Amino acid sequence: MTISRILVIGGAGYVGSHFSFFAMNNGLDVTVLDNLSKGHKSALRCSQFVQADLLNYDNLLNHLSERRYDAIFHFAASCLVGESVQDPAQYYKNNVIAAFNMLEAMRVTGHDRLVFSSTCAVYGYPKKLPLYEDHPKDPISPYGRTKLTIEWMLEDYNIAYGIRSAQLRYFNAAGCEPDSGLGEDHRPETHLIPNVVRFALNLSDSLTIFGDDYPTRDGTCIRDYIHVMDLADAHLKACAKLDTIPMIRFNLGTGVGLSNLEVVDSVRRISGVNIAPGFGPRRPGDPAELVADASAAQKNLGWKPSRSNLDAIVTEVIKWFSSCPQGYPN
Ligand SMILES: NC(=O)c1ccc[n+]([C@@H]2O[C@H](COP(=O)([O-])OP(=O)(O)OC[C@H]3O[C@@H](n4cnc5c(N)ncnc54)[C@H](O)[C@@H]3O)[C@@H](O)[C@H]2O)c1
Repeated sequence: MTISRILVIGGAGYVGSHFSFFAMNNGLDVTVLDNLSKGHKSALRCSQFVQADLLNYDNLLNHLSERRYDAIFHFAASCLVGESVQDPAQYYKNNVIAAFNMLEAMRVTGHDRLVFSSTCAVYGYPKKLPLYEDHPKDPISPYGRTKLTIEWMLEDYNIAYGIRSAQLRYFNAAGCEPDSGLGEDHRPETHLIPNVVRFALNLSDSLTIFGDDYPTRDGTCIRDYIHVMDLADAHLKACAKLDTIPMIRFNLGTGVGLSNLEVVDSVRRISGVNIAPGFGPRRPGDPAELVADASAAQKNLGWKPSRSNLDAIVTEVIKWFSSCPQGYPN
């Protein structure tokens, strides 16, 4: 099926804005729907923007009744692990109920193709590394549980109503497109790379590495960093794959783990600033190591990360914060 008109829900956020940019560059007609609770107007890359909340079902139903899309890409979510432990109600509402509204509106209006942002948090503590898709799912945070619940909903909606879905479990999204004015600007920012860069550029007062006594090569956590534009590429390929397979689930990572201190070292080398991070206690629910087995996505989608080199990512993020020290203007 030819995909030409798409709806990107959560397209004002970090991953969604980069995906929209990528999709526009690939000739697609992109409409973004976002409530701007976390996203930024200046990150919008689309031909049409609809400011709306997924929690408003009637609004969503009206929109999908009036406009037909070839595919829907769902990035919108609340996505802070710690906050989800403090306030699970918000997460069940903004993730599960919002996704339910979207699926219902799709079902009623006959939209049948969805690409969904899932996460490696569905696995919980790894029993075996790298994590492959069939690894037991035992999420340890409400955030991870909401994403796994949505995966199950998507499975049921596929079987009963024929809604096709690609469920993509990202590891750590990283990098940006500074030359096109796109960066990473979460408020608050909990991701390591932007936080180390901001510290190096004197844009923040402190930098804490959580835990230096993990059973890893230097005692700090190991994560798998995947470039947002590599994620974007996988989304379009996964969407096309739904022509032949009605439901797919893939890890999106590089298969290479980098420790927190290796990230700090990369920023130190590239910025030339001698950063000395502080060390704090381990954060509850932070596994020592999370690394993807992403061979299934590579094999089945013909996808290969091409931009997920740490030094290149750090160079871009330094460039973005050098031109936008406070992030997006709004
Ligand atoms: N960033 C990562 O490293 C990472 C890793 C794994 C999975 N994910 C998943 O990828 C997706 C995107 O992550 P991100 O970092 O871009 O997040 P983000 O917070 O930058 O973007 C989310 C966007 O969704 C919008 N949104 C939230 N709730 C909404 C609602 N009810 N109605 C309409 N819009 C709403 C926000 O305004 C924001 O623009 C999320 O689903 C997240 O769980 C991200």
